[in-house]
This record gives sequence, structure tokens and C-alpha cells, in this order.
Amino acid sequence: MKKLFMPLLAGTLSVALAGVAMAADDPIRKAQELRQAPMKLIANNFGFMSAMAKGDIPWNAGEFQARGRELGAIGQLDLMRGYVPESYEGKTRAKPDVDFEIDDFREKMQKFEVALRDFGGIADANSMRAAIGDLGENCKGCHKKYKSKEYQD
Ligand code: HEC
Repeated sequence: MKKLFMPLLAGTLSVALAGVAMAADDPIRKAQELRQAPMKLIANNFGFMSAMAKGDIPWNAGEFQARGRELGAIGQLDLMRGYVPESYEGKTRAKPDVDFEIDDFREKMQKFEVALRDFGGIADANSMRAAIGDLGENCKGCHKKYKSKEYQD
């Protein structure tokens, strides 16, 4: 039983590993992952802070401020990395419009980086709480035009 099972398992594993290796070698997939990674970090902090600001989770000024500072640090990154030609299909929600209007998109992203840094520099948690809605306008303003809800085909 064991003897029969092992080669089958080994075969399945090598097919699965080949899939992983292919993704790792694919420069387009890498670019997509690179631009999605900071968005995930941003959303994790932003979502947490929005929930706290709304009272969905208990208010904790120290934690709120720490998350806000983290958003400021992410604003130091070049969030335009990964927006390369030919990368607007497959496992991405970035619409091809990003490529067609890359100058407008870049301008929005650079404004967002500044907004994140400014937000991170706000002196105290209460003032940050008052400013979180404005920060969220950046997300909406860009996603509406450049991000779809589903992956592109
Ligand atoms: C200047 C444009 C722009 C701004 C500003 C922006 N995003 Fe995005 N965001 C995008 C694009 C484009 C994608 C799709 C990237 C992809 O799938 O390749 C994306 C993807 C995402 C994703 C999905 C990431 C994944 O793993 O696929 C989340 C979550 C997200 N954004 C949250 C936010 C939040 C929260 C904000 C504001 C605090 C924000 N974004 C601001 C353009 C923007």
C-alpha cells in the first residue's frame, strides 16, 4: 500500500512544485505581487483604524497611533513599483486603464504617498482619528477608476 502510494504522492508534489517555481520565475506575476503587497499592508492598518474610529472595536489611542505611524512608514515606499507594461491581465485587479493613463495614475499614487506620510506625522491619536476619512478618499478616488472588483482574465 505504502509502496504504491509514495510514487503517486511524489508525482503530485513535483507537479505542484513546478507550479510554484513557474510563478516565482514569471516576472509579470512577480510585478503584480509586488504592487499588491503594500496595498495589503495599507488595507490591514486602514481597516483596523477605521473600525476603531467607528467604535466597532474598543478605542485604544496607543494602538491607533502606532498603526497610523506605520501607514506613514509605508508612504516612504515607492508604491509605483510593479506597474509595468503587459501586467494588466491575469491575477490582478488593476485595470488596463492604469497603463493607458499611467501619468494620471502615477500622480494619484504619488499624492497618496505624501498623504500617507503626512498622516503618519500627525501629532496625536485624536487628530489622526479626525483625518482618517480624508485619507480614505484617496483609496476611493483611485480604485473607482483603476481597480476592478474581480481579477482580470
Ligand atoms: C493611486 C491608486 C490607488 C490608491 C490611492 C489606493 N489603491 Fe489600493 N489598489 C490600487 C490598484 C491599482 C490595485 C490593484 C493591484 C493589482 O491587483 O495588481 C489596488 C489593490 C488594493 C487591494 C487588493 C490587494 C491585493 O492583495 O490584491 C487592497 C486591499 C487595497 N488596494 C486597499 C487600498 C486602501 C485601503 C487604500 C487607501 C488607504 C488604497 N488601496 C489606495 C490602487 C490604489
